[in-house]
Amino acid sequence: MKRTHSATDLTVDHAGQEVVLNGWVDTRRDHGGLVFIDLRDRSGIIQVVFSPDFDQESFHLAEQVRSEYVIAVRGEVRRRPEDTENPNLKTGLIEVYARQMEVFSPAKTPPFYIEDGIEVDETLRLRYRYLDLRRPEMRECMILRHRVTQTMRSFLDQRGFIEIETPILTKSSPEGARDYLVPSRVHPGEFFALPQSPQIFKQILMVAGMEKYFQIARCFRDEDLRADRQPEFTQLDMEMSFVDEEEVFSLVEDLMAALFEKGLGQTIPTPFPRITYEEAMLKYGSDKPDLRFGLEIVELTDLVQDVEFKVFSSAVKAGGVVRAINAKGCASFTRREIDELTKIAVDHGAKGMAWIIVTEDELRSPITKFFTTEQIERVLQTLDAQPGDLLLFSADSATTVARVMGAIRLELGKRLGLIDDTQLSFAWVTEFPLLEYDEEEKRYVAVHHMFTSPRVEDIGLLDNNPLQAKSRAYDLILNGTEIGGGSIRIHRRDWQEKMFKLVGLTSEEAYDKFGYMLDAFEYGTPPHGGIAFGVDRLVMIMAGRSSIRDVIAFPKTQSASCLLTQAPSPVSSKQLRELSLKIREK
Ligand code: AMO
Ligand code: AMP
Repeated sequence: MKRTHSATDLTVDHAGQEVVLNGWVDTRRDHGGLVFIDLRDRSGIIQVVFSPDFDQESFHLAEQVRSEYVIAVRGEVRRRPEDTENPNLKTGLIEVYARQMEVFSPAKTPPFYIEDGIEVDETLRLRYRYLDLRRPEMRECMILRHRVTQTMRSFLDQRGFIEIETPILTKSSPEGARDYLVPSRVHPGEFFALPQSPQIFKQILMVAGMEKYFQIARCFRDEDLRADRQPEFTQLDMEMSFVDEEEVFSLVEDLMAALFEKGLGQTIPTPFPRITYEEAMLKYGSDKPDLRFGLEIVELTDLVQDVEFKVFSSAVKAGGVVRAINAKGCASFTRREIDELTKIAVDHGAKGMAWIIVTEDELRSPITKFFTTEQIERVLQTLDAQPGDLLLFSADSATTVARVMGAIRLELGKRLGLIDDTQLSFAWVTEFPLLEYDEEEKRYVAVHHMFTSPRVEDIGLLDNNPLQAKSRAYDLILNGTEIGGGSIRIHRRDWQEKMFKLVGLTSEEAYDKFGYMLDAFEYGTPPHGGIAFGVDRLVMIMAGRSSIRDVIAFPKTQSASCLLTQAPSPVSSKQLRELSLKIREK
């Protein structure tokens, strides 16, 4: 019984034809003299009718099968009687009258329903991922992901890119996370690192004259996991020679338009807006602002530097800032709601969160008593405060205030229902600082990565004021998620050496780790730049899901393990011996 059609290939045009279908029993309904089976395959569902009048043997078989049995059915396509049509099914106008049936395999009762919208613990879904993936919404995620990667390949091929694979067993490629290491049997005591990204290889491919490279690349990062992070994830990785930022931006905008067109049939407006890092931090308190709503953060530092309220004036004196958000129409928030917001502020590092409730005839607040009428007036004016508004203040270092107000802004956006889920808000974030100071490590670290070029006009700053230098890095953000990041690179050995030195590597360390790259740079290096996208994150947003695990066939849990295979797992002492490894007592 080889299949002739997939379930949803069939339409009323096939009425009268004999067909063979293969698939799973989705549901079975027994109506005494008739059995109805919804047969499911990858394409969807079709109803099959069994009756002793059509065929005795298959009718009796149909009485015995249960959900998830795998079957084959031969039968005739018929138009359904008028009042039994099902508008919810693609094949709702037809059914198949069964003349022959075969059971390929029986099935145990699944631990959860094979249907959309189930409320099941995710660990159970991951343990039985093969059942979870049978659910239509999960199948759709896999198909969308396929369409996205296919479109990436054909789009980039048309634009002259070539796909090149780079090694998985390699040397450490620093993107700021911990490496996954693989012991070498042949070289006892030595290790490969799994790539955190193909960064160095793609730059060397530019030295090698490949000009336009891409790869749908698996990356590995041993870092703390969240809903939008996996230890193993996929990038669309790209690099181009002889380009500047503008060429990267316009190519990526065309690519995104193609992906949304082919993947979802959606037209997205291009070019994307651009926002500098500085403006993003100031107005939205984040380098990946959700631009689907306003509620901008307002700078008050200069205005409040002389007020009697010590929390504000001393923050300013200590070089910090005072900023506020006008939560429009939130004057009716209860003390409890304000306390909840304050807790969010404190969780993000604030020491407190001052507030003012503006009503028709008064201001309610714990802090207005420390202000002159004139000072208050100017604050209200700057915040465009109207009766009915709630003003929320944060005073601290610029970094803390941005983090705090950014979190408060997002929370208010959610609480007030300001976020339109159907909207797509892309933007480029530009002019990132080149370096930041890491208090824990007591050294400069690269904000993007250390192969990122400083702006040409800022080279001079590297010697005396490196934190002031801006880089040629850019991120692409979509609805408050960073979906891609890249930069124009350093292509000169002397600049690259300077960068290594700035982040605290001695010449010996730099040469030991990256000597092969520095050497390559001396044999004719084109100026180059590129970008990499988080394929999982992009598909997650396109599919309207809230976790990247839903768009990865076999994802890992928050504790970086695979519930299907139970990896990671212990290995035999023989394997350890071969690798010259010894496990220390736990
Ligand atoms: P970056 O580290 O910014 O840049 O990574 C690029 C994009 O990859 C996605 N991403 C992740 N997705 C899922 N899980 C993770 N743990 C994870 N980490 C990152 C994000 C991010 O924007 N080599 C550079 C690119 C370049 O400069 O060209 C790089 O890897 O969407
Ligand atoms: P206090 O004088 O500590 O009682 O604080 C008075 C008000 O200022 C309270 O509403 C505090 O939540 C708030 N507050 C305290 N520290 C800060 C800060 N760093 N930024 C903004 N508001 C603060």
